[in-house]
Amino acid sequence: MKIGILTAGGDCPGINAAIRGVCKTAISTYGMKVLGFSSGYRGLIEKNYQELKEEQLSGILTLGGTILGTSRDKPFQSGSKESVKLIKKNYKDLGLKALVVIGGNGTQKTASQLADEGLNIIGIPKTIDNDVYGTDVSFGFDSAVMIATEAIDRLHTTANSHNRIMVIELMGHHAGWISLYSGVAGGGDVILIPEIPYDIKNISKYLKQRIKEDKKYSIVVVAEGIEKPEDEYAASYISNMIQKEVGIETRKTILGYIQRGGTPSPMDRILATEFGSHTADLIAQQKFGVMVCKNGNNIESIPLSEVGGKIKLVSPDNPLIEKSRKMGICFGDS
Ligand code: F6P
Repeated sequence: MKIGILTAGGDCPGINAAIRGVCKTAISTYGMKVLGFSSGYRGLIEKNYQELKEEQLSGILTLGGTILGTSRDKPFQSGSKESVKLIKKNYKDLGLKALVVIGGNGTQKTASQLADEGLNIIGIPKTIDNDVYGTDVSFGFDSAVMIATEAIDRLHTTANSHNRIMVIELMGHHAGWISLYSGVAGGGDVILIPEIPYDIKNISKYLKQRIKEDKKYSIVVVAEGIEKPEDEYAASYISNMIQKEVGIETRKTILGYIQRGGTPSPMDRILATEFGSHTADLIAQQKFGVMVCKNGNNIESIPLSEVGGKIKLVSPDNPLIEKSRKMGICFGDS
């Protein structure tokens, strides 16, 4: 049995561990042959692939990024039907019996559309943003939280030395999971996420009160997607406003792509391996049109039709937010 695999959308730590999980199980347990396509759906459109054998899989468990390369190409949005036609033709010509797509929300939506076109598809969720709908968690998130938390930890000492307010901007255009988790783990005083509307007056009142209580410095964690003027970074906007309203020295840090690069955390390696290996099991059982997912402690699968086009946001009544509020963390809304 011959199967294909590709990685699409933004990269994240753990993708190679997932590729390894799929391929090792597919090859050694089920005797399948695996073709790895380059640069997301583009590789399938352009028939750009290589067979993945044990040699290609050795040493990639700890490697960040994706050995297959990635792109944000969306075949159903390209304006012509040509890309989709080519995907179907190449899938058939190469004799593929299934296609595994590793990606975030956009990738899973395309996967669902390809499943509707009759291809045997299985999705594997990956993103640092943790916003893929239908799974409790996706790999990449734990690594990103670890990196962001270390950055916040390091801001504490320099903020303390200079009596400053430090604003750090973390990734998350629509979902504030990274800011919420690393903000709490790193002892942030203010956490701003796209899901909770803020008022700068609430933030400045809170920071002024900290100064009154002789707290020498404050840490403000902001997600990149909070409300702000379009042409400004969230951290610049918030730090300028704070400096103006609170009147004490404020500095900003934008962590950027460091959150997405490098070696996956042990938890991400495990999750990616579980997702990958489970995917090969599903192919062997001929269970297609699904995305693998984590539900509580179980690795399961969910129909792609229930996932495509949706996003998992932080609910304002998330228990971690509730606990954080009780501990005095400000979310800018009161
Ligand atoms: O992968 C998700 C993400 O990291 C977002 O948090 C970020 O805003 C976006 O990708 C940016 O990625 P790119 O510049 O590669 O499009």
